[in-house]
Amino acid sequence: MAADDPDKRAAAEAAALLVQSGMRVGLGTGSTVAFLLPALAARGLTGLRCVATSIDTAQKATALGLPVESFDALDRLDIAIDGADQVAPDGWVVKGGGGAHTREKLVAAAADRFVVIVGENKLVAALHPNIPLELHQFGLPSTLRRLGGRAEVRAGWPPSPDNGVIADYTAAFDDPEALAAQLAATVGVVDHGLFPPALTSDVLIAHAGEVEHRVL
Ligand code: A5P
Repeated sequence: MAADDPDKRAAAEAAALLVQSGMRVGLGTGSTVAFLLPALAARGLTGLRCVATSIDTAQKATALGLPVESFDALDRLDIAIDGADQVAPDGWVVKGGGGAHTREKLVAAAADRFVVIVGENKLVAALHPNIPLELHQFGLPSTLRRLGGRAEVRAGWPPSPDNGVIADYTAAFDDPEALAAQLAATVGVVDHGLFPPALTSDVLIAHAGEVEHRVL
């Protein structure tokens, strides 16, 4: 377990209360989710079916007794809960600081309710670089060329579980929607860490022991 962080813990514990017995649950990745897993396990819910967005989360959840299964076995989730790197006032979210954004987006998109859990320090007035990317290994130099020198491979990072190269879009931008469309249209980009407001149902923001619950 990472060092205690009262805001991350408070947001995670509030999110754990949104899960009910019998739910199919998407488990995110990162230090905030590290507080969610024991809080969820401690509830003693029955009949949960969990999907993990990373090997790290799968291992932690399993060790706590949460039933994790392959995403191949489920085509829909009731709820998914995950941290974020940036949350803008209009609901745009940046994820992928831990490099798990492709699987995180797949799990979020499968969920009827996607809940973002953050401390207040993740709130930003406007999204800013870096925006995490996952790129195909095959033809990587040509993908980087198409990205116009505005992307950098993360040095020393292992490939994703799907063998993607973890990188970041590093240039300034004004319009997240336009950048998301541009990145999605760039051949060789597996996915990016821009999550549109339509993907998120709730944002739980913790500060000084209080949790604000924003419904999008
Ligand atoms: C993992 O790739 C990320 O999307 C994380 O969910 C995000 O970076 C938030 O991480 P923390 O909860 O560690 O701040």
